[in-house]
Amino acid sequence: MGMLDGKSALVTGAGRGIGRGIARLLAAEGAQVLVNDLGASLDGEGRDTGPAATVVREITEAGGTAIANTSSVADFEAVEGMVHQAISAFGKLDIVVNVAGILRDRMVFNMSPEEWQAVLDVHLKGMFNTSRAASIHWRETRAGGRLISMSSTSAFGSPGQPNYGAAKAGVIGLTLSCAAALGRYGVTANAILPTGSTRMIDSIPQAREAVAHTGKLPSELAVGTPEDPENVAPLIAFLASDAAAGVTGHVFGSFGYAYALMSQPKIIKAMRSERPLSVDELVEYVPKAFGGVMEGLELEYLGPDLEALAAQHGGWVEVRPGLYYWGSKLEPYGELVW
Ligand SMILES: NC(=O)c1ccc[n+]([C@@H]2O[C@H](COP(=O)([O-])OP(=O)(O)OC[C@H]3O[C@@H](n4cnc5c(N)ncnc54)[C@H](O)[C@@H]3O)[C@@H](O)[C@H]2O)c1
Repeated sequence: MGMLDGKSALVTGAGRGIGRGIARLLAAEGAQVLVNDLGASLDGEGRDTGPAATVVREITEAGGTAIANTSSVADFEAVEGMVHQAISAFGKLDIVVNVAGILRDRMVFNMSPEEWQAVLDVHLKGMFNTSRAASIHWRETRAGGRLISMSSTSAFGSPGQPNYGAAKAGVIGLTLSCAAALGRYGVTANAILPTGSTRMIDSIPQAREAVAHTGKLPSELAVGTPEDPENVAPLIAFLASDAAAGVTGHVFGSFGYAYALMSQPKIIKAMRSERPLSVDELVEYVPKAFGGVMEGLELEYLGPDLEALAAQHGGWVEVRPGLYYWGSKLEPYGELVW
């Protein structure tokens, strides 16, 4: 018995990396899976039917059910076809996981409009395309649904990725909108800040250090370690399951063997006057009212330092042998019972 027996899923970008791990685990948990992957290079060029076909073969050889689709998520009509392909093959579509992604990193002052648009098209328009087509199905069937989409810590200030950061922040915005709009149809929507040493990580400057020290790329060193992209998949399978029916409108982090919950955006300080304030007054009052929390970005764009954060919040508590937890003292969410 799998947690997802009787369910069907569409996973985009499932031919490699994080998406491959998700598609394989959803199938292992009993879901029938449409494996979508354009087979593009890291910057989105070209196409190859190989990655999707390989993952379909891996799933069927392991006893699961999967079919391939090699369309681009950026193509509105093709994504409608993709969703219909899943519905006609499996009879319905319960789970959509948006993973397809590309990179065209450049400083904002050097970025071409084409580099901007290509990244927005795959990550953000791609998510709109799948969400729109699937939500029409979910609104008709009233059988519920799951929308799970890969955002990134780059949404919070990665300097060399203005296109990618904007697209990934947009993924969070679209997730929150869908959570608010589709809850009445039993649909949940959540975003993930994933990590995993895939070819995407092989492309960043720090990867050169790994090659210099070991002769291997980060993706080759990652198998079976906290950096393995497969570590994201259990969180996705949980969110896709009936056990997570009440979990919606959240942003989760998946960092190695650690999972984290982001706070909801909230006002943290305010000042108020009984009359309009002048600019001169704001020059004086703003630093007094909001100073201390305006120094700069708190989140490291390559992934937060969970150890440092834990230390700030009272340290890790061992809640089961080998399982550790900390919660922010700033969040009034009550004590957890383990
Ligand atoms: N690896 C990380 O640490 C990390 C961190 C934050 C966010 N992410 C996000 O997670 C997702 C997966 O990343 P990954 O590291 O596994 O990358 P990856 O390059 O290994 O896999 C991405 C897959 O998407 C496919 N793809 C690209 N464009 C497509 C399109 N238009 N239509 C359909 N498929 C397309 C590619 O062919 C590829 O197989 C991406 O959205 C990425 O932005 C990854």
